[in-house]
Amino acid sequence: MAWSESDIPDLSDRTFVVTGANSGIGWEAARMFAARGARVVMACRTVSKGEEAAARIREHAPGARLEVMALDLADLDSVRAFAGGLASVHRQVHALVNNAGVMAIPYARTAQGFEMQLGTNHFGHFALTGLLLDALAPGARVVNVSSGVHRLGTFDWTDLNWERGYSEWPAYCRSKLANLFFTFELDRRLKAAGSTCLGVACHPGYAATNLQFVGPQQRESALGTFVMSAGNALFAQSAANGALPTVFATVSPTIHGSEYVGPRVFQAWGAPSVQATAPRAQDPAGWKKLWEASEKRTGVRFLPIT
Ligand SMILES: NC(=O)c1ccc[n+]([C@@H]2O[C@H](COP(=O)([O-])OP(=O)(O)OC[C@H]3O[C@@H](n4cnc5c(N)ncnc54)[C@H](OP(=O)(O)O)[C@@H]3O)[C@@H](O)[C@H]2O)c1
Repeated sequence: MAWSESDIPDLSDRTFVVTGANSGIGWEAARMFAARGARVVMACRTVSKGEEAAARIREHAPGARLEVMALDLADLDSVRAFAGGLASVHRQVHALVNNAGVMAIPYARTAQGFEMQLGTNHFGHFALTGLLLDALAPGARVVNVSSGVHRLGTFDWTDLNWERGYSEWPAYCRSKLANLFFTFELDRRLKAAGSTCLGVACHPGYAATNLQFVGPQQRESALGTFVMSAGNALFAQSAANGALPTVFATVSPTIHGSEYVGPRVFQAWGAPSVQATAPRAQDPAGWKKLWEASEKRTGVRFLPIT
């Protein structure tokens, strides 16, 4: 039988943090967790959007235990403030779902000067995870939302900020390969340190969300918006189905760390299953290089799992 929302176990003793929980995959995952009793911290860039999103969850699950907190992954000061605020209230986080992301946007930089897609999708989440390490409960999971386009990702270690030859899609693909490098190195280091916490990766296949529209909106491209709308209408699954791999990676007892979970029909649609990554994601030397670059750039060290 295909795994579905009805297979989510009781989560009433769990506290989950979901980044980008006001939209798309993050909102659907937060809704599903909350409906099964989890306390969900909705980490959102704009608090008013988060509150509105929480209200929409309460329409589905009136007793939902939701907290909206401000988090801008493109600013490490915001990441530090979020982590400090969260850790002072919740000492036992059972899952950190690193879901927020931007895709194929024009060149921009984060507050600390990182190229925006790698900065938001990877460096912000790397720093957040390191800062929340002490707040993770035994057996907690760090779930990183990657993408099938990691298959096209490459690293130029001499130019992580894309100062030469920036291109929107290759930068997105790199950021999604980075999500996998981070997951596998995190899980390896956790296990080596004797921790019971796990690093897990997932991807939603192709799901109709706001993700596809941010790039065209920033470029003011009506054609781009039209193409994305048509693509979503013709080929995408719902955001709710797209969230199932994330939810499975977070709650399934069959997960032991370092899996890559995605929809099983052509890795684009359908019920979640554990899948193979592209060979380029299985590169321990690359994992280590990205880890070291991430510590250096963010200033966040994952003591004691070095
Ligand atoms: N949809 C797909 O087909 C697909 C396919 C493969 C992978 N993914 C991955 O799935 C994840 C979720 O995307 P989605 O499809 O649900 O897109 P979405 O609807 O656009 O949601 C993205 C979320 O990320 C948040 N975000 C963006 N920049 C942020 C920042 N600097 N700080 C904090 N939050 C930020 C957005 O906040 P705002 O609302 O404030 O912008 C929004 O809540 C992403 O990692 C994406 O790469 C999606």
